[in-house]
Amino acid sequence: MKLLTLALLSIAGRAEAADVLLVGDPLNGKKLYQNTCSACHGEGGSGGRTGIALTDSGRMNLIRNDQMFGQIEKGEGLKKPKDHAFSKELKYLDTWDVIAYVRTLHMTLDQFFPQAGRYVSKEYTIDKFGLDRIKEAAGLALQGNDQKGAVFTFFDFEGEAGNLSYVPQDPIRLDHLKKKFKAGYLVFLPFEDGNGFKGEIGVAMDPKGVITKIAVEPKGGSGLAREEFAIGALDMLGEIKANDKGAPFFQRGVTEYPMIGDAVSAITQRELRLIFDMSGPGTIDIGSL
Ligand code: HEC
Repeated sequence: MKLLTLALLSIAGRAEAADVLLVGDPLNGKKLYQNTCSACHGEGGSGGRTGIALTDSGRMNLIRNDQMFGQIEKGEGLKKPKDHAFSKELKYLDTWDVIAYVRTLHMTLDQFFPQAGRYVSKEYTIDKFGLDRIKEAAGLALQGNDQKGAVFTFFDFEGEAGNLSYVPQDPIRLDHLKKKFKAGYLVFLPFEDGNGFKGEIGVAMDPKGVITKIAVEPKGGSGLAREEFAIGALDMLGEIKANDKGAPFFQRGVTEYPMIGDAVSAITQRELRLIFDMSGPGTIDIGSL
């Protein structure tokens, strides 16, 4: 009986890998998009007539490729499926080209976790407290859909590097995602800098919540091209010092180098709090996992 379950599991595992599906040609996809989609979704997915932008990284990454295929072919899961069935206009492979192009319109998960094998995703509604803090930190009063935030959690598995696949909310599959395999988290938030820059920020964290990568991307209306996309890896190099009154604070950079023979110690929760200044106006709670 046990063997049978195992065999079934491995078949299920293979089916999941097949969900990664085809990789289309974004250049051909762009042409097809302009003919078939841009009338409603706007040039470059900016939202156009329907206001449904295809550039919001958090929301778009919640839609897996196989789901998007269904949305385009048959309007699967959408409010008026018949109005969104393009299987006559687009051949099978054309649809994959369109998906490949749509994926160039927002940040993608593998840009942040290129080595990860699996991920899970969850959508949260940011509470009033979080909204107030975002307003304070980023000068943005989030409206409507922007009040929702997606959190992606990544796992590394041997032999699966770079072949990122989604793990559905199914107890058996989730059970495989042991804490020791966790590679980190990723969130996306809208961002405005007060000087007219409008965009989106992607923040990757390690399993302890320490920020490891940050990317900022301009969005429609900002007048900047998406090619200006940049992703930065962060090393939290700095030291904890005491101020005049003896209170500890974190400062970037190193002024006192360790000596040979100095002890190495693991960072504590308290020190992490100091580094990220959890109580400061520049931080927000997105939710808990
Ligand atoms: C006639 C207008 C129209 C056309 C043409 C159109 N769409 Fe849509 N699309 C919509 C509307 C409206 C929605 C939202 C429907 C809903 O919420 O149920 C939508 C939803 C979507 C979504 C889901 C977005 C989300 O956030 O859930 C995707 C992806 C999408 N469209 C891609 C495409 C692609 C790719 C094409 C071209 C092949 C296309 N659409 C053509 C109107 C259109």
